[in-house]
Amino acid sequence: MRPACVLDYREAARRRLPRVLFDYIDGGAYAEETLAANVADVQALKLRQRVLKDVSKLSLETEIFGQTLSMPVVLSPVGLAGMNARRGEVQAARAAKAAGVPFTLSTVGVCGIDEVAKGAGTPPWFQLYMMRDRGFMAEVLAMAEAAGCPVLMFTVDLAVPGTRYRDQRNGMIATTSAQRVSQVIDGLAHPGWLWDVQVNGGPHTLGTVAGAAKDLKRLADYWAWIGRNFDPSITWDDLAWVRARWKGPIVIKGVLDVADAHLAADLGADGIVVSNHGGRQLDGASSSIRALPPIAQAVGDRTTVLMDGGVRSGLDVLKALASGAKACLLGRAWAWSLGAAGEAGVAHMLQILRAELRVAMALTGCTDVRSAGADLLAG
Ligand SMILES: Cc1cc2nc3c(=O)[nH]c(=O)nc-3n(C[C@H](O)[C@H](O)[C@H](O)COP(=O)(O)O)c2cc1C
Repeated sequence: MRPACVLDYREAARRRLPRVLFDYIDGGAYAEETLAANVADVQALKLRQRVLKDVSKLSLETEIFGQTLSMPVVLSPVGLAGMNARRGEVQAARAAKAAGVPFTLSTVGVCGIDEVAKGAGTPPWFQLYMMRDRGFMAEVLAMAEAAGCPVLMFTVDLAVPGTRYRDQRNGMIATTSAQRVSQVIDGLAHPGWLWDVQVNGGPHTLGTVAGAAKDLKRLADYWAWIGRNFDPSITWDDLAWVRARWKGPIVIKGVLDVADAHLAADLGADGIVVSNHGGRQLDGASSSIRALPPIAQAVGDRTTVLMDGGVRSGLDVLKALASGAKACLLGRAWAWSLGAAGEAGVAHMLQILRAELRVAMALTGCTDVRSAGADLLAG
């Protein structure tokens, strides 16, 4: 059965991927309340149906950071995506390029910046996690600049990693020998994935930071490495450090509070992503869609406000725009599609999303995404 929507891709990914990987994508922190709220609060928003407006011509294009997007969608950084499909980041970046939307490469992608830039024929946006070794960070930024990455997305909501129960249960964080055995059995039970990724998809390193992240033999080694290397002491002062080493636009990802949005705008951030990391960090934090309107109102005239979290359809994209975002990012939507069907899956998911967005625009009487506002929402 061909997937008809993003959630069909979620089910297809559940079938194709070993449980440890599916749960890594699908899960959130602690009781997953914020993850659930991200989705539920988007669902709770209602679009305002309008009729008898001429909707024969719809414009989905928008411009952010000097780039024209064919629709107001960006693929969010997703760590380890190359474990979902063979050289997964390259496949997703290709699909994004064909669809005319940006792909953001995570610091902890399996494929490195150069591999993605060459493989996709266009440099990705690059997402930065700050590590303790500033010398190495400077090298990474220089690498991103040399590859021509047009936008730097600086993720600031992972000072420490949130605890994810599913990952603990599955042995993603630290693996007991019993969990190791069940991971091997589970891998063997998913031969399509095993052949594509495990046998043919190597090297399974963290391409961009491979120089610093050596000896990562198992998934659990990856978390231990993050714990040792990510820098929990970073503050707003470090933005100046990043700014001094990056000439292009900088987007701060992980802002959920108006006060932080003001700080980001005051410090000259070109954009912010209203985000709670897809409910994977502070459980109990507000949903992104709920946090978005006051932030957009406070700083939307000074910086480009983006959002992510819980966007599962083109209708959801329109709700995000109506709530104040200029564009929204997709995390799980592309990770599931990639895990289910590689590049073709991501390409098809983006087609679905575009078609849904067109219908949502037509039936709300919105002919241009750039003018989408709160009037599209039912009171
Ligand atoms: C499997 C997975 C890995 C992620 N890895 C990263 C990462 O490396 N860097 C980052 O800034 N955000 C990361 N995120 C968060 C996403 O960029 C995004 O904020 C989140 O997924 C949005 O919510 P959604 O999945 O509901 O769309 C990750 C999310 C998932 C699901």
